[in-house]
Amino acid sequence: MKLISRYTMMLLTFVVLLTTAVPVALASGTTDNSSSKKLVLGTSADFAPYEFHKVIDGKDEIVGFDIAIAKEIAADLGAELVIEDMGFDGLLPALQSGRVDLVVSGMTPTDERKKSIDFSDTYYKSKQVIMVRNVDKDKYPTMAELENAKIGVQKGSIQETIGQSIPGAKLTALDKISDIVLQLQTKRIDAAIVEDTVAAGYLDDINGLAAAVPDEEQAEAAIGIRKGNTELLAAVNGTLDRLKSEDKINQMVTDASLLMADKMDKSQNIFKVFWQFKSFYATGIGYTLLLSALGVIFGVIIGLIICLFRLHDVAILRWIGTAYVEVIRGTPMLVQLMIIYYGFSLSFGINFTALQAGIITLSINSGAYLAEIFRAGIQGVDRGQLEAARSLGMGRGDAMRYIILPQAFKAVLPAIGNEFITIIKESSIISVIGMVDIMYQASVVKNITYQGLSPFLIAAAIYFVLTFILSKLLGRLERKLSASDRR
Ligand code: ARG
Repeated sequence: MKLISRYTMMLLTFVVLLTTAVPVALASGTTDNSSSKKLVLGTSADFAPYEFHKVIDGKDEIVGFDIAIAKEIAADLGAELVIEDMGFDGLLPALQSGRVDLVVSGMTPTDERKKSIDFSDTYYKSKQVIMVRNVDKDKYPTMAELENAKIGVQKGSIQETIGQSIPGAKLTALDKISDIVLQLQTKRIDAAIVEDTVAAGYLDDINGLAAAVPDEEQAEAAIGIRKGNTELLAAVNGTLDRLKSEDKINQMVTDASLLMADKMDKSQNIFKVFWQFKSFYATGIGYTLLLSALGVIFGVIIGLIICLFRLHDVAILRWIGTAYVEVIRGTPMLVQLMIIYYGFSLSFGINFTALQAGIITLSINSGAYLAEIFRAGIQGVDRGQLEAARSLGMGRGDAMRYIILPQAFKAVLPAIGNEFITIIKESSIISVIGMVDIMYQASVVKNITYQGLSPFLIAAAIYFVLTFILSKLLGRLERKLSASDRR
């Protein structure tokens, strides 16, 4: 009895430590390096010439006139500019939760948005354009013809609101402008609503797309700032005033448009794409491995604890273990990721970075599956083994450690291997919150090259090589462990 309660206490302490200390430790890693002043910019870098990815000297960089403006603001503040690239509809929550200090992303200061954030003075004006395939140029002479058409828009943008007001239109709302363009080229949608400055880039860049029905609707762009941050608001407006009086903004737009127009060689085959973007994929592999390795380590720890809970004599612990497994296994990992990344920060003010949120999600997720695997292993060991050990005078703990667990481990090794492989592949989900893993880099390459196939084939090949190597290594370990069985 005494042994059990000590055991129980240890387990509980460990769980409490893990669920509080680890996330806090991880989170503090990024928040307390305040020695040099940083200005964190949130943007959705799919919006050339405002903000977009560009390979400069073999390195991926985010450029554009929004970025140029943000750099001026940071310079005026004497701060270092840090860019956080994310989906457009993630920008408002990121600003509200303090993940970023300001949003410069061609954002229109609508009344709806003004309810949750403040805006600077406007710095740019544009118009809405309907983009179609060349052959359809005359099919939509007025807005009225767009009724019942399939229309692509960016998720969370004012274009989405415009689309919603067209009667009968079937809207496809996507994260990235480049995805909308691909949808249009591949005939999945009939038209896309975009801003004229942005559309210009695609009409030049990609053959087969034209502008139809330039709508008169105006859109302005302003800089988003957290409510109550009047100091930054004043500083931003100060910089904007200076840039306007020096007529710098127009110059920045021209520069960015030139950068955007500087086209890529589109005839590239898959090997050339790989070679040109090898450093992108290398970064991605690094993060995928880091994510998976830490996900596996914490997943195993959580799995062991939950498994012991499930097999415990104390009913409440058994209940907690079962509830954990059922809940985690019964909900999609993507949903768990959103809760940890956005939910925690908006509701509790706990701001995990993409890496931290990714590791936590992968760990709690794989923990549930591993717990079940471990349980199957332990329960699969003949009861007689435990009885024999106990009758030789071994304590329960020792019997577990030296007799049961080694046998259980050997039996479930293939299942554990499966889970590790799953973790490597599933880690690709973390790319949706901007984790720079293999999957994310493949999308970046797609956005830069406008190629839909090669970037993903390369990613698939890399994932395959990684999982294949892992499965070979695990096979070796299995053979080594089973050598004793054949004696
Ligand atoms: N001006 C539009 C809006 O505020 C679209 C902005 C999209 N920006 C971007 N970086 N993708 O809704």
